[in-house]
Amino acid sequence: MNRITIEELQEKKRRGQKITVLTAYDALFARIVDHVGLDAILVGDSLGVVVQGRENTLSVTMDEMIYHTRMVGRVARHALVIGDMPFMSYQQGAGQALENAGRFLQEAGAGAVKLEGGIRITAQIEALASHGIPVLGHIGMTPQSIHQLGGYKVQGRDPEAARQIIDDARAVQEAGAFAVVLEAIPPQVAGQITRTLSIPTIGIGAGPDCDGQVLVLYDMLGLFSDFTPKFVRRYAELQALAREACRLYKKEVEDGNFPGPDETYE
Ligand code: KIV
Repeated sequence: MNRITIEELQEKKRRGQKITVLTAYDALFARIVDHVGLDAILVGDSLGVVVQGRENTLSVTMDEMIYHTRMVGRVARHALVIGDMPFMSYQQGAGQALENAGRFLQEAGAGAVKLEGGIRITAQIEALASHGIPVLGHIGMTPQSIHQLGGYKVQGRDPEAARQIIDDARAVQEAGAFAVVLEAIPPQVAGQITRTLSIPTIGIGAGPDCDGQVLVLYDMLGLFSDFTPKFVRRYAELQALAREACRLYKKEVEDGNFPGPDETYE
């Protein structure tokens, strides 16, 4: 399988084929996701919560994102690797955004970056896109603005808020993003944006009408269970399986059943 290109992702929208995206934060899981042929792997700053055990994503640093993206970039052969720009790595302006986005491509093997925000960050998106750095936008519920939004809440429920999200979507497209993540917005609003834009929409908690879907890998595998948002479908219960395996190992070591003859050198 060849590496998927931005053009191929956009072609999928035109053909009505869904785009598939999952997060991954290390080589082990990136290999699994890549092997089954997903279109893109997002090295999300959600790693701050699911891998690092932080309360939110705000304190994740550029160096940490580069470290994780490099592990994914090293092994992904087919999927487009997208590095998530952490809080305060692009908010100061186009210059800062260029410098940090460039690191994802130069040092970590990413093929694109993701930035949160709409109208207020179009200067950054324009700067990156015009310097050959593909940008995935991210609007609606943007976790880096959790304090301003007052928590992880569905956005765009009233007509005025919906209008603002639609304006953000248009602005992100006009600034040169190749696609946009729509997070936690009503399905009608996501559907309208998807029909209006020529670039693909990738939904998370935005209903079935988006051009593609993204989930946090550890959520859909049932590995992270501190909280499960409504929009997550659990395709496996790996935390329960892992706990059971560890419990059995502990018991067998304590009972003297492990190691047995099969696990012992002659
Ligand atoms: O950080 C992340 O994993 C994300 C996705 C949930 C879209 O931004």
